[in-house]
Amino acid sequence: MDFSLILTMYFTLPKIRSSFSRRVEILLIVFCLSVLICINAYGSQNGGSMITVHYPMQNTAKEYGLLGTSISVQDGSADEIKVDVNGLEELTIVPERKFICFTVKLEPGENTIEISAYKLGKKIGSVTKNVFRRSDLSAKLRKIPSSFKRDYFHMKDNAECAECHALTHSEYDMKPVSRANFSSENYDIETIVSTTSTCYSCHKPIASLPFVHGPASVWSCLSCHDPDTSPKYSVLKPDNEICYKCHEEQKNKWLARKYIHGPVTIGKCTICHSPHSSEYPFNLMMSTWDLCTNCHYEKGTGKHIFADRMFTDGHPTKGKDDPYRIGKELSCASCHNAHASEKPHLWSFDVNTLFELCRVCHTEYGS
Ligand code: HEC
Ligand code: HEC
Ligand code: HEC
Ligand code: HEC
Ligand code: HEC
Ligand code: HEC
Ligand code: HEC
Ligand code: HEC
Repeated sequence: MDFSLILTMYFTLPKIRSSFSRRVEILLIVFCLSVLICINAYGSQNGGSMITVHYPMQNTAKEYGLLGTSISVQDGSADEIKVDVNGLEELTIVPERKFICFTVKLEPGENTIEISAYKLGKKIGSVTKNVFRRSDLSAKLRKIPSSFKRDYFHMKDNAECAECHALTHSEYDMKPVSRANFSSENYDIETIVSTTSTCYSCHKPIASLPFVHGPASVWSCLSCHDPDTSPKYSVLKPDNEICYKCHEEQKNKWLARKYIHGPVTIGKCTICHSPHSSEYPFNLMMSTWDLCTNCHYEKGTGKHIFADRMFTDGHPTKGKDDPYRIGKELSCASCHNAHASEKPHLWSFDVNTLFELCRVCHTEYGS
């Protein structure tokens, strides 16, 4: 029932009003107005109280592209839950348990997650959460805006989750990293992982992209995340501190070279590599070409390598087969080492002049 309608009627019907004294009239107006305010406040909170979001909090800041989410809806109130991220429909879930858990993908920058409850095809309530994904690959997204804040899930007691999930880590979360540990047994890796890792039930999607990093593929999460830190499960900074613990061979090789690439010098391996899994070989955050041109924008314009002197269009840097690295596509990494080199411009070959460099691929230039 709409109380504003009653209020309008009251004011437009002088006959009813004239039958009241001035005092009663004022009291009635005050009463109607307060009812109106209460109804409005209740109405706008209705969606919010029907859906309870346990995680994430409003205005959370994250690092990577996956966000574990857990909500509950009033028993029997909804028959379908829809999740939209940045206006695009991402998930549709039929609620079957008290707690509904899912993972959403985040874009770099600000994301709007709208969770809506439906009954018989009609929207009966919705809540919106904003989440910021920080990224070193864009100057604008490097800093978390002041309205967003990192929120550490594992710093809270989360007792309500413990009903179904194991919340204390175990020795199995710090497995030796060799895949052999797993392949030697006769089951599939998923079965072993799901029964031995305490992280798996909530973080399953983190290691499910096509290119999985060694320790993440065997769910040795604690080989990088320390449970005895505050915030809990922190990793050493800068990242190369953890990376070089296992990649000692690379450390010795690269740090001994004359020229070291900017981001490697400052120890930020995870600017380019996901420590968990990714869609690209070497667990790269993007394809090599996209990754490099993100920071070296001008090299992606097609004018790289004496465009003015020899070719009007510049030398190709992608979209061709790499004549030296058979089976790979030509990219920035065809000529440059992403980490370090003995040669100027981080050339990836043992060459001293430009001409020698050209001849690595263009054997027709003679020797
Ligand atoms: C009533 C049991 C129950 C409770 C309570 C519960 N979960 Fe879950 N959760 C599950 C089940 C079962 C799964 C496996 C995925 C599925 O089948 O939906 C799951 C999966 C997840 C996932 C992974 C989703 C994915 O994309 O694979 C996350 C994240 C998660 N839960 C977080 C939480 C958090 C946080 C809490 C506490 C606020 C919580 N859960 C409480 C039952 C529960
Ligand atoms: C009850 C489900 C649950 C379990 C079990 C769980 N996590 Fe989480 N974890 C979450 C949720 C929810 C978040 C916050 C959302 C996100 O980052 O996806 C989170 C966040 C994190 C973070 C980011 C920092 C923070 O506290 O927000 C790290 C690191 C992490 N988890 C590591 C682990 C490791 C390692 C394990 C296993 C030892 C583990 N988690 C087990 C649900 C869980
Ligand atoms: C090789 C080291 C390494 C391994 C192994 C690893 N992580 Fe991480 N993880 C990191 C780093 C580095 C970060 C970024 C931390 C930061 O910047 O605060 C991170 C961040 C996270 C986050 C937070 C992501 C966000 O959006 O902020 C979660 C959740 C997480 N790890 C879970 C896991 C789980 C679960 C496993 C086991 C499958 C795992 N990690 C294995 C290095 C690792
Ligand atoms: C606990 C040991 C461990 C740590 C810590 C570790 N790695 Fe690894 N890494 C491995 C193993 C094992 C492999 C798989 C080697 C193989 O397949 O030959 C690997 C492989 C890789 C690869 C190559 C993937 C490929 O497809 O060839 C990259 C890139 C990489 N790691 C980057 C990193 C970065 C960046 C860090 C730090 C955030 C890191 N690693 C930390 C153990 C580790
Ligand atoms: C600027 C981006 C960038 C940074 C920063 C970076 N890498 Fe890489 N990394 C790459 C690319 C690109 C490749 C693949 C090169 C190719 O195609 O041959 C790669 C390959 C690798 C490999 C596998 C091949 C090899 O050479 O052994 C490992 C291991 C690795 N990186 C570890 C690291 C570690 C550890 C750090 C931090 C010290 C780091 N990377 C920093 C871009 C980067
Ligand atoms: C996060 C930003 C970032 C990314 C991503 C990045 N670079 Fe760089 N790069 C730098 C910085 C910073 C320098 C140092 C700038 C300077 O010294 O003038 C640099 C320098 C270089 C140089 C010049 C070295 C010299 O001595 O002239 C080359 C070549 C180069 N990068 C190639 C690459 C390639 C190839 C990739 C992709 C695998 C890449 N970069 C990805 C930031 C980046
Ligand atoms: C065919 C080989 C080749 C490829 C592919 C290539 N480069 Fe270069 N790059 C060179 C050479 C040669 C130089 C030395 C400077 C020159 O002569 O232009 C150079 C110089 C550079 C420099 C440092 C000098 C400067 O102008 O600041 C950067 C940064 C760089 N390249 C980035 C990239 C990026 C990013 C890509 C991928 C889009 C790429 N290169 C692809 C050969 C290559
Ligand atoms: C990593 C291998 C590589 C290196 C190093 C390299 N090129 Fe190329 N170059 C290519 C590829 C691949 C193409 C494209 C060929 C095609 O279109 O099929 C190409 C195309 C060209 C072309 C266009 C004509 C043609 O053959 O299609 C010229 C000219 C050229 N390169 C000159 C140079 C010069 C000069 C250098 C040294 C500064 C150089 N290249 C270094 C791989 C390389």
